[in-house]
Amino acid sequence: MINIYSDEEIEIIKESGHITYMCHQYLKELLSPGVTTKYIDDEAGKFICEHGGIPSCLGYEGYPGNICISINDEVVHGIGSDDVILKEGDIVTLDICTLYKGYHSDSAWSYAIGKINKEKEHLMYHTEKALYVGLKELKAGVPLGNASARIEQYAKKHGLGVVRELVGHGVGHELHEAPDVPNYGKYNTGVMLKPGMVIAVEPMLTAGKRDVAMLDDDWTIVTQDGSPAAHFEHTVAIREDGYEILTGE
Ligand code: MF3
Ligand code: CO
Repeated sequence: MINIYSDEEIEIIKESGHITYMCHQYLKELLSPGVTTKYIDDEAGKFICEHGGIPSCLGYEGYPGNICISINDEVVHGIGSDDVILKEGDIVTLDICTLYKGYHSDSAWSYAIGKINKEKEHLMYHTEKALYVGLKELKAGVPLGNASARIEQYAKKHGLGVVRELVGHGVGHELHEAPDVPNYGKYNTGVMLKPGMVIAVEPMLTAGKRDVAMLDDDWTIVTQDGSPAAHFEHTVAIREDGYEILTGE
């Protein structure tokens, strides 16, 4: 079942999303060579709680971090660690989820540490673009597959791998709700979008092959070929005439 949220509920998801957004703004200033990912995770937890939220990731199916912090060939679900120290040339994805007044919001963003190489630059630039290319397809009365198809088409055009094992999702009362929002698909397929649906759109693209594997920690997902991955995600509400970003300013 796909939840339809009222305007009042969407306002609360937007408040939740604003905490998520502000947390990104706060953390991105802390990202520099020499900083551990545990420190970033600790600061994320403090920030979300100080703003009246709860880090949704913490304890989700036993996940041990406040947020997910994934570096270079890590696609998603990297766990902050005292042993992982950021260095010049890394790309790091912060995936932040907040529960506020009973509603979740979810947004991931990839950041560069200092100067990064051309391959990573290309990957980051086009993964962010792919998010907006997908979002542009969203409005009531249109099948969800159109956004998925556009993301896949855009990624392939720029030589990027589209991870298939991980998908976007509905979000609201629960962090993960129906429907799935894949980053691949066909036009004119999938559920018909309706006003009040709230979904997280999140292209996860790689600079190499699309295949992924799980590390021994049973959380971190990496590319099999070791190529870097990027991930950009917004929570959005479906409107009559388009979409509204809920994880922004
Ligand atoms: N934003 C992540 C997702 O949509 C949430 C991960 S939950 C966690 O998959 F438990 F892995 F942190
Ligand atoms: Co998500």
